[in-house]
Amino acid sequence: MNEVKNNTVLSGVQPSGDLHIGNYLGAIKNFVSMQNDYNCFFCIVDLHAITVKQDPNTLINNTLEVAASYIASGINPKKSVIFNQSSVPAHSELAWIFNCVTRMGWLNRMTQFKDKAGKDKENASSGLFIYPNLMAADILIYKATHVPVGNDQKQHLELTRDIAQKFNRDFNCENFFPIPEPIIDKNISRIMSLKDGNQKMSKSDPSEYSRISLLDESDEIIKKIKKAKTADNVMPEKIEKIINLSEVNNLLNIYSGFSGIEKQKLIEQYKGENFANFKSDLSDIIIEKMKPITAEIKKLMQDKSYLLQILLEGKNKANEVAQKTIKDVYDIVGLLRNET
Ligand code: TYM
Repeated sequence: MNEVKNNTVLSGVQPSGDLHIGNYLGAIKNFVSMQNDYNCFFCIVDLHAITVKQDPNTLINNTLEVAASYIASGINPKKSVIFNQSSVPAHSELAWIFNCVTRMGWLNRMTQFKDKAGKDKENASSGLFIYPNLMAADILIYKATHVPVGNDQKQHLELTRDIAQKFNRDFNCENFFPIPEPIIDKNISRIMSLKDGNQKMSKSDPSEYSRISLLDESDEIIKKIKKAKTADNVMPEKIEKIINLSEVNNLLNIYSGFSGIEKQKLIEQYKGENFANFKSDLSDIIIEKMKPITAEIKKLMQDKSYLLQILLEGKNKANEVAQKTIKDVYDIVGLLRNET
């Protein structure tokens, strides 16, 4: 008997190179755990990546590397649809409709645009400004009900909910688009830089010591954790004291994310000690979890034809669903489809 799954998950990762343990703990690890209970679509959002400059050859390699990272992390292509965004044109078509639904005021409030555009807003691409509309289209073209993401995407998810509601209201089609729920893990949804506990761990940080890449070998992980900032004295006894020690708090979140041990328990284990043992155990647990994944990513990258085959199958499955939604949307909006 065919299992009926009522809820749909969509999420995406940009192929902008150097995926790190923030992407893994904040997003990809959750993708894996949702595949048995939901219809899952996991996208490699190449159209989002080109909102800032990309080298065309590197972009294709990075796209394959995200596919390899998904599979190596445990996403099963037989259960979940893995595909790249640009291979399903309905994402862009729906994004245009949403460009006409979203209000300028809503986009003006997006903090990620302000962060990414920096001081030189005049010189940012217009794609970067309307980026959240494309993200809403990624989600709503599959009528996704749940979206696992890191905390930095929360505002974009709220905007997606507003767009879905406004579309349903403006075009008198109540419940056409579901109002998707973000799935954000409280502690590990914002992994911070290893050098500065107030900065998000990011692909774009110029220092490699700020992040642990999914491709790092064991010796690099040990080196980076050894160098990671902690605090001047010892591990405090109480969790309340940790909150002000942002770097220690971050390392505890990483430890907890990889080991499944609660933060409070970890604090009890290391309280009163300097951070040497803690760091050594933390490296061990990261290596234990990441080593097989890193090895598998590297192996899969040697077999590009396999990855291309997975993406082709994913594209076909995704197109089937997306085509149906975009046809309905054209009818709702009143766009003539002169089809035979
Ligand atoms: P991206 O490519 O920047 O990141 C991919 C996923 O990783 C999460 N993430 C983090 N989580 C915890 N700590 C961190 N330091 C950290 N850095 C990144 C992100 O929150 C994200 O879940 N706009 C999205 C991609 C996107 C998308 C979508 C996501 C496009 N369309 C539709 C969900 C649904 C982005 O730039 O993610």
